[in-house]
Amino acid sequence: MEKYLVRGGKALAGEVQISGAKNAALGILAAAIMTDDEVVIENLPDVSDINALLEAIHGIGAMVERIDKHTVKICGATIKTTEVNYDYIQKIRASYYLLGAMLGKYNKASVAMPGGCKIGSRPIDQHIKGFKALGAKVVTDDMIKAEATKLKGSHIFLDMVSVGATINIMLAAALAEGKTIIENVAKEPHIVDVANFLNSMGANIKGAGTDVIRINGVEKLHGSTYSCIPDQIEAGTFMCLAAATKGDITIKNVIPKHLEAITAKLVEIGVDVTEMDDSVRVSCSRRVNSAIVKTRVYPGFPTDMQPQMTVVLAIADGVSTINENIWEDRFKYVAELRKMGSVITVEGSTAFVEGQEAFYPAKVSSPDLRAGAALVIAALAADGVSEVSGLEYIERGYEDFDEKLRMLGANIEKVDINDDKATQKFKMDVVS
Ligand code: EPZ
Repeated sequence: MEKYLVRGGKALAGEVQISGAKNAALGILAAAIMTDDEVVIENLPDVSDINALLEAIHGIGAMVERIDKHTVKICGATIKTTEVNYDYIQKIRASYYLLGAMLGKYNKASVAMPGGCKIGSRPIDQHIKGFKALGAKVVTDDMIKAEATKLKGSHIFLDMVSVGATINIMLAAALAEGKTIIENVAKEPHIVDVANFLNSMGANIKGAGTDVIRINGVEKLHGSTYSCIPDQIEAGTFMCLAAATKGDITIKNVIPKHLEAITAKLVEIGVDVTEMDDSVRVSCSRRVNSAIVKTRVYPGFPTDMQPQMTVVLAIADGVSTINENIWEDRFKYVAELRKMGSVITVEGSTAFVEGQEAFYPAKVSSPDLRAGAALVIAALAADGVSEVSGLEYIERGYEDFDEKLRMLGANIEKVDINDDKATQKFKMDVVS
């Protein structure tokens, strides 16, 4: 296991390239097995969640060939089993997208039951409700087993807006017989990207990005070459980094429209954001103002940006209120931020943040992916040497995070968690 050694307190500046969207790529990779033709996916982020799903896809017998760091060729013709066991689901929850994909293609799939996780209980009742509406018999014990003679289109109204259920049902319905209408769906950019990819394979899906998705099932899908959209959460993380370190960062290869909620909140607290065609420049030269943040489904403020924004507000002038409406357990990192001098009280789903002048350097541990990135931002804003452990979470969703940070002038090194010598050396180098 490794940790970051971080010498913070410096305004970070320069340009950073954003990788492909992890949460879009997870749906797209599952969809790629739905044809027996070859599919080429480009602009994949090189992160451990994607590599874990590729392993699961390979594990069921599909051909997976990595063409380069960001491109993979997949062929589902050689799939030998419709069962995905716990080993895979434990590494990457989104392996459950193979349920929708295989149910659509083979009318049969079983995937180990994903448990709860670090940010909440994560039920999947809406996925199952959708599969049942399409005519599948679904049995759940330690596996979710779904089977149908032939899936049939249906009218489904989701009880709550769910990214995962929207994608999983859309996958299955793409090859169902007849028309499916899914109402109250998620509208995130990654939903649109998965739908666009399926359409590039010959599916007939309309309305992705609105509340209602209409799918005319087709008999089969064909091969395609497709490039994933940029990751708006990675982009938002670097935007918050610029704000917290009073830096000036140009974030390239983004779709500014996807960042609107983040941009609006940063502008509201006094950060300068300039949008260009496919980049945003974020700069901040003074202490930011406090704010009220409420996480909501897209196009609202994303829950996946909540910890990073809290870090920015932890050094704002005044008291901020952060209301988390998606995940019940997404404030675990607050205990770590307190070690850095932050004054934050959590009451139920709301955190009250009393802005401080600065962070103190400290030894902190990432409790989950986005919280880990947020702690790195805090460490880079703190004047002195911090240590951030739990990199296995950060690396699930951030490609070459430390390298990208170094390009912006950050003093950050990745070392083995028990490497006291390297730790001492880093501290000495900084002093000298
Ligand atoms: C996706 O998770 C993302 N993961 C998450 O990103 C993100 O936080 C989340 O959407 C919300 O935007 C991927 O795309 C792989 P949901 P997902 O189904 O699909 C409840 C990150 O940091 N719900 O939209 O699992 C659920 O409990 C990760 O990259 C049900 O009750 O989220 C939650 O409160 C973490 N029943 C809410 O809906 C269901 O059947 C939203 O969940 C499904 C969901």
